[in-house]
Amino acid sequence: MPNSSPFLGKRVVLGVGGGIAAYKSVELMRRLVDAGAFVSPVLTAASLKFVGATTFSALGSERARISLFDDDDPIPHTSLGKQADAIIVAPATADLIARYAAGLADDLLTTTLIATRAPVVIVAAMHTEMWQHPSVVDNIATLRRRGVVVIEPEVGRLAGGDTGVGRLASTERVLAAVEGLFLEGRGLLLGKKVLVTAGGTRESIDPVRYIGNRSSGKQGIAFATAAARFGADVTLVCTIAPPDEPGIDVVEVESAQQMFDAVSTRVADGFDLVVMAAAVADFRCKDVSPIKIKKSQGAPQVVLEPTPDILAYLGSVKPKNQILIGFAAETGELESEARRKLKEKKADFVVANNVLEHDAGFAVDTNRVTLVYDDSVLAFELDDKRHIAIKVLSFVAEWARINGVWPK
Ligand code: C5P
Repeated sequence: MPNSSPFLGKRVVLGVGGGIAAYKSVELMRRLVDAGAFVSPVLTAASLKFVGATTFSALGSERARISLFDDDDPIPHTSLGKQADAIIVAPATADLIARYAAGLADDLLTTTLIATRAPVVIVAAMHTEMWQHPSVVDNIATLRRRGVVVIEPEVGRLAGGDTGVGRLASTERVLAAVEGLFLEGRGLLLGKKVLVTAGGTRESIDPVRYIGNRSSGKQGIAFATAAARFGADVTLVCTIAPPDEPGIDVVEVESAQQMFDAVSTRVADGFDLVVMAAAVADFRCKDVSPIKIKKSQGAPQVVLEPTPDILAYLGSVKPKNQILIGFAAETGELESEARRKLKEKKADFVVANNVLEHDAGFAVDTNRVTLVYDDSVLAFELDDKRHIAIKVLSFVAEWARINGVWPK
């Protein structure tokens, strides 16, 4: 288990409702325990029709509890809730959601939910008709308004052979949401609107071929994910598969022109922070062939023309209270190139990296970046791209507040 695991030493109450998906929370509990969390399972009476308390007792850090009137702890409902760093309810059935939203406290789980001040994550699972019923829709809205994190069900095969929305979200999604709760600096970007671009653009030669680049989009996706977990309202304009993360509004594009259009039509939306992590093509084909160019015609002459420079455009229309971050993927002189871009494009920060290093830049999961801003330089050591995003955003948010760009 990595020392940097955000779950290390965290106390988690895992509430299990009475739905067929209850068996999946065994795996969720296992993963939480493996990641270093202390997990206390709390099972509702109905859940015992689907799973056994013994399984949870054997695999959890503490024995499973099923009753309000536990003999060795006269007040488990308050002690569990008070000690918890987070409460996860998986699966949350329509009935459990209704009881929680109404403030009922008639068993150990609902009592713990009402007694706690820890963040709560509800992982809903039920039949499509139930999930879409106005009472469930209203109850979910009520819980969300109170700050409960709701992980909506996914589309898939349901009990009884039906298919539709209702299936319990994947363990990965639940873990990602809980990890977000434990993130240091949670709420750092609360109420902020953030625009992120990610991925390399593709410029068509003909309907089959394109000019592209080696960007995987991993660093940009890491920025969008970290910003969402810091509480921001994120718009992600990307050329690659977006993350499965709550709080991110995705706009999929392919070419530099499409990215420009997606960004420029949204500039009036009042973004507090713009992170231009995409590797945008600098040139595109002047004439795109509408049909596939035949090999038998011989090697074609491809004439290129410049694409719109999105970052420079954003710099030219930047409002006073917006932070603009550009990227510089370089193969040589890092700092001077980054500083030139900072000035020319009127950005506030440029994140520079050398893409020739084997453990940084394109496609790999790690990066080594240098942040160039004002007259200063800040070098971050080699790290996972997700941690780089967290560190850069933490620094930038602090800078924005200290320098009065954002209200304190
Ligand atoms: O000048 P260069 O392309 O190296 O600048 C890199 C930065 O500019 C990146 O942040 C990239 O997203 C942005 N860029 C852009 N539009 C272009 C080319 C680059 O926004 N056409």
